[in-house]
Amino acid sequence: MTTAVLDVYLTEADGQAALRADARAGLTAIPKVLPPKWFYDARGSELYERITELAEYYPFNAEREILRERAGEIAAASGAETLVELGSGSSEKTRWLLDALTEAGTLRGYLPLDVSESALRDAARSLAEEYPALSVHGIVGDFTQHLGRIPARGKRLLAFLGGTIGNLVPAERADFLHSARAALRPGEQLLLGAGLVIDPATMVTAYDDPSGVTAEFNLNVLRVLNRELDADFDLGAFRHVALWNAEREWIEMRLRATRRMIVHVAELGLDVPFAEGEELLTEVSAKFRRDGVRTELRAAGFELTEWWTDSTNRFALTLATAL
Ligand code: AVJ
Repeated sequence: MTTAVLDVYLTEADGQAALRADARAGLTAIPKVLPPKWFYDARGSELYERITELAEYYPFNAEREILRERAGEIAAASGAETLVELGSGSSEKTRWLLDALTEAGTLRGYLPLDVSESALRDAARSLAEEYPALSVHGIVGDFTQHLGRIPARGKRLLAFLGGTIGNLVPAERADFLHSARAALRPGEQLLLGAGLVIDPATMVTAYDDPSGVTAEFNLNVLRVLNRELDADFDLGAFRHVALWNAEREWIEMRLRATRRMIVHVAELGLDVPFAEGEELLTEVSAKFRRDGVRTELRAAGFELTEWWTDSTNRFALTLATAL
């Protein structure tokens, strides 16, 4: 039997406390806002999986194309002994990296870090079985808090895929990159997936698909609040909105109230008034340009080493080296 080690730095109680704090702060803010991390309960994760299967949601396929085409180059350029994957889950993509690093002969360990203990256990178990020579060590943690807990074992490659860096606003991104740099030794590397700035219509359609899966995904955060905080959001009274903010160069997902109402959040003892047409910001998904990525990496103590894009130039994988 294969066993995988699991370190837990985040408990369910921590998650509940963080949700309460985020909901209280965000629902009393002007304009109202909720962090995108709360989309991903079991239903939200399943809806995200369905998004990745949509033809309109090009980032997933574009990143997969790069990994498929470039895994060998990535492995050769990194020479990593340990693959650390932040917010894992993306198992198919992980396997390409694991296969390439195994073929290159350097790989010894895999360290997935995720907020979901159950997702991590499942992933760690199946990968430990598929790669019996690999030491698999899971970390239940939040990539905005626990990068310092990543064990130092051999030369590490820190993979942050999917374009999730875009869900952080610039100040959060700078914090993230600085803590990633602090967690690494000089010469260790970061593999970063990032959506690129392309024509607005293509970007908006990726976040506003005609079949309405993204709308369901967006509304799911209200279901999470209803269940976890005993709130009474009427999901039928909110409409999914996706738009391109050209100044900030990010996609915004919002939920627009279609009537005025007061939402009760029993667990917080909070009454939240909505005006008709008022919007709640639920996600930003920033898109990038090469110069911007290089500058942000440099400011955090990384050198941009490689830049790979898909054949349509919609997505980039960056290999950066800790200085
Ligand atoms: C979590 C970064 C992969 O921002 O593109 C998909 C989440 N939101 N559709 C993104 C998402 C709406 C996604 N990532």
